[in-house]
Amino acid sequence: MLLKHRTPLTLTDNDVTPHRVYLNRRNLMLGGIATTALAACGEASGDDGPSATQAAPKGALEYAKSAYTTSETQTPFEQATTYNNYYEFGTSKTDPAARAGQLVPEPWSIKVSGLVGKPGVYDLETLMKQQLEERIYRLRCVEAWSMVIPWIGFPMSALIDMVEPLGSAKYVGFKTLYRPEQMPGLRYPILDWPYEEGLRLDEARNPLTLMAVGMYGQLLPNQNGAPIRLVVPWKYGFKSIKSIVEIAFSDEQPATSWNKSAPQEYGFYSNVNPAVSHPRWSQATERRLDGRGGLAMLTRQETLPFNGYADEVASLYDGMDLAKFY
Ligand code: MTE
Repeated sequence: MLLKHRTPLTLTDNDVTPHRVYLNRRNLMLGGIATTALAACGEASGDDGPSATQAAPKGALEYAKSAYTTSETQTPFEQATTYNNYYEFGTSKTDPAARAGQLVPEPWSIKVSGLVGKPGVYDLETLMKQQLEERIYRLRCVEAWSMVIPWIGFPMSALIDMVEPLGSAKYVGFKTLYRPEQMPGLRYPILDWPYEEGLRLDEARNPLTLMAVGMYGQLLPNQNGAPIRLVVPWKYGFKSIKSIVEIAFSDEQPATSWNKSAPQEYGFYSNVNPAVSHPRWSQATERRLDGRGGLAMLTRQETLPFNGYADEVASLYDGMDLAKFY
């Protein structure tokens, strides 16, 4: 079965109907950054939100619907928040949901360094002043399972414009929080901590590249990378680094955790490619977690080049041999 998405991926008036997400008790429990978000987003006003009959709570998180969407069945919230990879909390799929409650994702800031005109420490409030939008993306893990997740965030390009990279900047490196007292998985030398990832600057600027602060209309649960993570939908999921605390611009390809750990299995580019097998398994098909197969994950489907986003990103790799492992 082939996946489909709407093209062209441009906004229309219908796609930008404003939505308001009201922070509720669940947000407070799951996200843990509600107070930060409240401070960041100001007062809710008007009566057109989903809670129109209720008094608007102080400081609703606002976002717009975007054309970056798919009509494919969404992964149930429950599954997307209990079947996770977040090795800082353990290597089993259920460890992050069980243990990430210990993480305190506020206050939060991201240190921006390297080849930029405006290096510095940017707090989450400042970053969340960007226009937030909902993007429903496919997420394809290198382990050959996949989900469809409605993220809320802002384009990485907005952050890049804000910090004004120098002409010499060619790459962006990201680091996850390293806080052993709240992240029990850091005790084990599975990876060279902290978790690091990277993109070429033009990949980071691509309109699909998202800095996510929420999902399913709520602030990001800790296990999904609260309070802010990357989402790069045409690459294997390990590129979508969680709980980011550092972003560095450079003229050299940054080291990445999985590449350092097993360079023959995890390349720097790691674009989803059904034609290039992982050394230990095929990438031709994937198990879609979207409730259709239940928790047994029986729904197997074909994997598409660039995870179905070839129209948007294939040109980034003109001249590169896509059959080669990068
Ligand atoms: N980021 C950090 N810091 N640590 C991780 O272990 N796992 C990656 C990625 N980001 C990971 C990470 C992998 S392998 C995947 S598939 C996705 O997060 C999973 O994101 P999800 O749990 O929100 O579905």
